[in-house]
Amino acid sequence: MAAQGGTVKADAPAIAIAGLEKHFGTLKVLADLDLVVADKELVCILGPSGSGKSTLLNIIAGLETADAGNVTLGGKRVGYLFQEPRLLPWLTAERNVDFALQGCAVPAARWGELKDHYFALAGLSEFRNYYPHQLSGGMRQRVALVRSLCVEPGILLMDEPFGGLDELTARRLRVDLLRIWRESRKTIVFVTHNAYEACYLADRVVVMAHGRIRDEIAVNIPRPRDYDDPAVFDVNRDVVRRFLAAAELQPEHASALPPVPNPVSHSPGGLP
Ligand SMILES: Nc1ncnc2c1ncn2[C@@H]1O[C@H](COP(=O)(O)OP(=O)(O)O)[C@@H](O)[C@H]1O
Ligand SMILES: [Mg+2]
Repeated sequence: MAAQGGTVKADAPAIAIAGLEKHFGTLKVLADLDLVVADKELVCILGPSGSGKSTLLNIIAGLETADAGNVTLGGKRVGYLFQEPRLLPWLTAERNVDFALQGCAVPAARWGELKDHYFALAGLSEFRNYYPHQLSGGMRQRVALVRSLCVEPGILLMDEPFGGLDELTARRLRVDLLRIWRESRKTIVFVTHNAYEACYLADRVVVMAHGRIRDEIAVNIPRPRDYDDPAVFDVNRDVVRRFLAAAELQPEHASALPPVPNPVSHSPGGLP
């Protein structure tokens, strides 16, 4: 049973991060960052552009090294879904998935069963032999999702995966993601700058700004969820208010939040 509404489970956490720091040259991108994600929990990290979300995911995935702190994973393989599907254009949808399977430890005897299962869950059974250019943007991202699930990750990292899609397509994918998550029971860390998306999807919304975690909101809405449930709008209102407070925080008037020992420089541009 997944953690619901922020309830902490007795199982070992899927991800435990303590005291994480990361610099790029003189730019402090992550500071003092602690985060624990329970097994099978769906956590959304909400933050403005440049707040360090992708850097955090890259460190969890081992694609980037931290300058200080620890990341402990509960012995789980990590899958990663990016904003762009990153499919090989000369391979069909199914061959793209095979390509990923060839690079992982899943025995070949299971590939057929896994592909049947996840292509069906993603509504793509009829499209396995299509090339990426024959598919819509939403379908290409579905193929990328199938690819990330077929390698059987215990932890799925998703970096603004629907951010490049039109709103209707993104909405369908969010609904389908929750259905797939219910059936596949992964731990998911989902990064977004879209507050409503975060509230609809998450057990817990973690607000990030200037390289730090500033706030955390449990989403106590029962599942399965209706996308237009007024309860999601209510949580969204609260999350947006707290998100704005965190994102607009200037180090010199930070009294409303815990002290910030080393103010993080922040690139201009404001909220998305
Ligand atoms: N490889 C890199 N080299 C130098 N600076 C980087 C690098 N990656 C990210 N940054 C900087 O770190 C900050 C956080 O970036 P990022 O983690 O991509 O934020 P987000 O995903 O929240 O938009 C930004 O100011 C960005 O320009
Ligand atoms: Mg990013």
